[in-house]
Amino acid sequence: MTTFEIIKKTHFVVVIIFFLIYLIKTILLLADKKDVLASFTKKVKVLEMIVSFLFLATGVYLMIQLPVIPPMLIIKITVVFLSIPLAVVGFKKGNKGLATLAFILILAAFGMGEMMKHQEAKKPEKAANADGTINGQEFYKANCATCHGADGKLKMAGAFDLSITQLSNDSISSIIQNGRNTMSKINGLTPEQAKAIAEYVGKNIKGK
Ligand code: HEC
Repeated sequence: MTTFEIIKKTHFVVVIIFFLIYLIKTILLLADKKDVLASFTKKVKVLEMIVSFLFLATGVYLMIQLPVIPPMLIIKITVVFLSIPLAVVGFKKGNKGLATLAFILILAAFGMGEMMKHQEAKKPEKAANADGTINGQEFYKANCATCHGADGKLKMAGAFDLSITQLSNDSISSIIQNGRNTMSKINGLTPEQAKAIAEYVGKNIKGK
């Protein structure tokens, strides 16, 4: 596992813990269990501090590694930062409305994060060649050129130069389907389509 993958996993685990702590706190507040809430808050205080720190540190690390910051991520971060003061005030004052709102915002941010993991492949207009075979070039243009450029050399904020890649077509196909580090996997391509793209890269971009 690369450092990026380890930090990504840590971020995910930390987010789940953070989320569970707030779920329990919100339920206790809504159920008017003030004493239980107070003792729970006290018990998880240190854990919550560690989790909050790791949450922010891993989040910032992951963000600065990204080649492009998608608009959805900006919305997600805004929502997270809105929820924090709401949660602090909500729980301090025992205000059910604010605490619930903060919880809903955290839930929404979590949902957005999950949604972003699914980068859907775009199907080009000319998906097939005249002879019925998959048009690798068109699939490449639709799904790869934004970061790698039509000639593979664009290197859009961190994308590798594909004209100097040493990878075999099989490895390229595997990166398309599984992603690697900051390149997320492209969902919804059939293995045949991924193979056609990889063959196009191998024949027309690699070494050119
Ligand atoms: C959102 C931007 C983005 C898109 C879209 C994208 N890539 Fe990448 N690609 C990257 C980044 C960033 C890296 C560097 C990943 C790393 O650090 O390991 C990369 C790395 C690669 C590599 C590894 C090259 C090497 O020599 O190690 C290959 C191959 C590759 N991409 C092919 C593709 C193909 C084919 C597509 C389209 C199906 C595609 N990429 C779509 C950003 C992108």
